[in-house]
Amino acid sequence: MTEQDFIPKPYSKTLENGSVNWSSPSNIALVKYWGKKEHQIPENPSISFTLDHCKTTTTLSFSKKETSDSFSFDVFLDGEQKDSFKSKIETFFKRIECYLPFLRDYHFKIETSNTFPHSSGIASSASGMSALALCLMSIERNLSSALEETDKYFNQKASFLARLGSGSACRSIEGDLIVWGAHKEIDGSSDLFGVKYPHGVHQNFKNYQDTILLVDKGKKQVSSTVGHDLMHNHPFAIRRFEQAHENMSKLINIFKNGDVDAFVKIVESEALTLHAMMMTSMPYFILMKPNTLEIINKIWAYRNKTNSKVCFTLDAGANVHVLYPENEKETVLEFVKNQLVEYCQNGHYINDQIGFGAQQIGE
Ligand code: DP6
Repeated sequence: MTEQDFIPKPYSKTLENGSVNWSSPSNIALVKYWGKKEHQIPENPSISFTLDHCKTTTTLSFSKKETSDSFSFDVFLDGEQKDSFKSKIETFFKRIECYLPFLRDYHFKIETSNTFPHSSGIASSASGMSALALCLMSIERNLSSALEETDKYFNQKASFLARLGSGSACRSIEGDLIVWGAHKEIDGSSDLFGVKYPHGVHQNFKNYQDTILLVDKGKKQVSSTVGHDLMHNHPFAIRRFEQAHENMSKLINIFKNGDVDAFVKIVESEALTLHAMMMTSMPYFILMKPNTLEIINKIWAYRNKTNSKVCFTLDAGANVHVLYPENEKETVLEFVKNQLVEYCQNGHYINDQIGFGAQQIGE
């Protein structure tokens, strides 16, 4: 598939108005996307677990306008108008306009809500952009004849569009393991959209658990977009991008044979490498907080003392994702309550697990 394949044929139907509704989850990367080329093309492949409980629900209402000269939309979060979201959505619309030629023909009302608090430090861009992309695809499907759009095309194009809103959002359409970025050992993998991980996955990795420790709910000092940019001319960038390819190759075997110890090593190394890239950028920055390190040390001590396979990963912030197999659910939750909650802001954490992707709620 190329970009051209996502430019639709002239639509066969017309629509005056209507409303579509999707909920779409967040995801947590195991091999990280950090660094991109023009047009949201990743510098390296990444793979993520789709989450289940952390999600965004979006209702997109549309009504035909008199003229098609500019984009017209209003955004609401939990019922409150959010003009601060508009510039990001305007940029998104500009990027996807040639793939969705109806965008200027309608006024849109975007009503969105998250299952997690907006100020939790959990990125809502993956779930938010994927939910919006899916709503737009539902409108496109209603404008096209049914025969033109298979489910596969629908999901691929939704992921392709979501990527243009926020890179990691392209991994939220489906589940439970999604690869984005071309990798030589993963057939069908693409820089343009996420695909379901095609190889065997051992039972040990089914229903994996993710407890998200909310260490710092404040706004990040450096956005992901700025962080990605700092990978241009970064002294370690080339080697880092190679390493991501190598880690993907190693994970293929690990997923197949169920080697959770080897999984832990790759996942924790990826998390620390991501933050090492931030610390060695120019300008350099640190997104971890003292409590992030306290938690990491507690996890290592717990693993040394017990047979636990619990491990951590981080995204571009201070929060810690605690990952563990389903059969350790009770013991790890005890450990979290007894030893880790004290490092969370206001004692807040979210219990989540692997999920299976976005869902249409109604039309
Ligand atoms: C650290 O997808 O938020 O979470 O494409 O600029 O919107 P943009 O960036 P974004 O970057 C996420 C980076 C990450 C790692 C990952 O999810 O792979």
